Amino acid sequence: MTKIEVKKESPAAFRGEMLAVCHFEDSKKLAGAALQLDRQSGGILEDVIRRGDFSGKHAQVSIVYTRGALPVHRILLLGLGKKEKCDLERFRRAFSKAARAARDLGVGELAVRLEPLGGSCGLEELAEAVVEGVLLGLYRFRKFKTVDRDEVKDLRRLLLLAADDREAKRLKAAAGTAGIVSKAVYYARDLASTPSNEMTPTDMARRAREATASKKVRITTLGIREMEKLGMNALLSVARGSMEPARFIILEYSGGRRGDRPFVIVGKGITFDSGGISLKPPDKMEEMKADMSGGAAVLAVVKAASELELPLNLVGLVPATENLPGGRAYKPGDVLRSMSGQTIEVISTDAEGRLILADALTYAGRFKPRAIIDMATLTGACIIALGDDVIGMMGTDGALKESLRRAADETGEKLWELPIWEDYAELIKSDVADMKNTGGRAGGAITAAVFLSKFVGATPWVHLDIAGPAWLNKEKPYIPRGASAVGVRLLLRFLRDQALKKRGKWKE
Ligand code: BES
Ligand code: MN
Ligand code: ZN
Repeated sequence: MTKIEVKKESPAAFRGEMLAVCHFEDSKKLAGAALQLDRQSGGILEDVIRRGDFSGKHAQVSIVYTRGALPVHRILLLGLGKKEKCDLERFRRAFSKAARAARDLGVGELAVRLEPLGGSCGLEELAEAVVEGVLLGLYRFRKFKTVDRDEVKDLRRLLLLAADDREAKRLKAAAGTAGIVSKAVYYARDLASTPSNEMTPTDMARRAREATASKKVRITTLGIREMEKLGMNALLSVARGSMEPARFIILEYSGGRRGDRPFVIVGKGITFDSGGISLKPPDKMEEMKADMSGGAAVLAVVKAASELELPLNLVGLVPATENLPGGRAYKPGDVLRSMSGQTIEVISTDAEGRLILADALTYAGRFKPRAIIDMATLTGACIIALGDDVIGMMGTDGALKESLRRAADETGEKLWELPIWEDYAELIKSDVADMKNTGGRAGGAITAAVFLSKFVGATPWVHLDIAGPAWLNKEKPYIPRGASAVGVRLLLRFLRDQALKKRGKWKE
């Protein structure tokens, strides 16, 4: 990962390979560092604008060679678009573009002088957004590429130039935070991108242990015997079609006071979803290696929460298994007795996510949570309802949902609520059991959530269906194609808001 450093130095004196300065499309004149450098160089930046090569359109990049007019070798002019529209998301996107441009040129280091530029956001927020944009946009999953290793270019360093010691201190803190958050995103993307032959439930448990070793996190993994004792038959039934043993991963981070009720986050950990006996069509089946994206996000969030030393208690739960059609596989028509005691008629073995989550949500109750949030690549229906880019949110607590909406606004991870009115429960009524595991095509994201709600009880709860945004077939500004780690920044923002008792604070 690109290193982030902070240095007290003026842009005018900076002698390095490349320095980025920003410009708004609708400002007549250069401002801040850009103006200073332009004056000092006898107008080389103004020249680029006057000739029409650069207008400041959002995420527009122009490289200007200084040829001795300034100590630095190149200026990267970065467009921020219209001033009034400029928010943190635009900074993330623009700087991701800048970082990629620098990397493509083979530049090893990019310096930037951050200026709040009259916007409403503070210096720390701005620095976090810029660092995240740079780091997240540069992510690549190269684990299995053995050729051309030497030709791969890397941006080794991002240098934040500070005006004085006080600013340097603030920038360092912000860069530290953004570094931890970005590292967690990398971790979750790595896990979800890794194919199922190297990311079995056992591998996932191992990766969880590695990630949280030496931190204030207690990790426990339950094996099949222990799950049997607990009566987690919904989870175990899904696992029966596979030779790979299921795992139930429990992470407990205690950053709060002893006795403070924890937040419990739960992530679907299907390391490969073939559909089971209700086999999926082969088209795009390979993407189902990422059906543990929710689980990966949960592991990443607990890891980062502990590194950020958030003053709260947090539990992460990941039921992990493959869903395969083996000789002992569970079958349509089977009736399962879940850990909660409720019985479930299996209509489709491809609706496996809600089955493993049912037992995990029941288990969550043991922690007497303040709130439960689950993340799951649960339904194709959610993609049909909201498109590829949007998280479907369903839940029982208005204030909790509102806090998540705010966190979504701040992080740029889009989320939209779907209703879970009691009427929908009709659709999952079974003739032979307490409920069935599918409710037909109509409202499929909702009936899945209604199913989950039966295992939650009275605890405030929100379900996030991330089936769409967890995997990208087309790159987005700071998310390359493939696993996105959606949910990681969202939940970290939410938890930080809770911990800091600031904006969006949901409950004491
Ligand atoms: N993992 C899938 C959902 C999914 C689909 C995620 C596409 C990402 C992209 C889930 O286990 C599943 O198969 N859901 C079924 C439910 C149906 C059988 C009720 C679906 O959405 O088709
Ligand atoms: Mn499935
Ligand atoms: Zn699935």
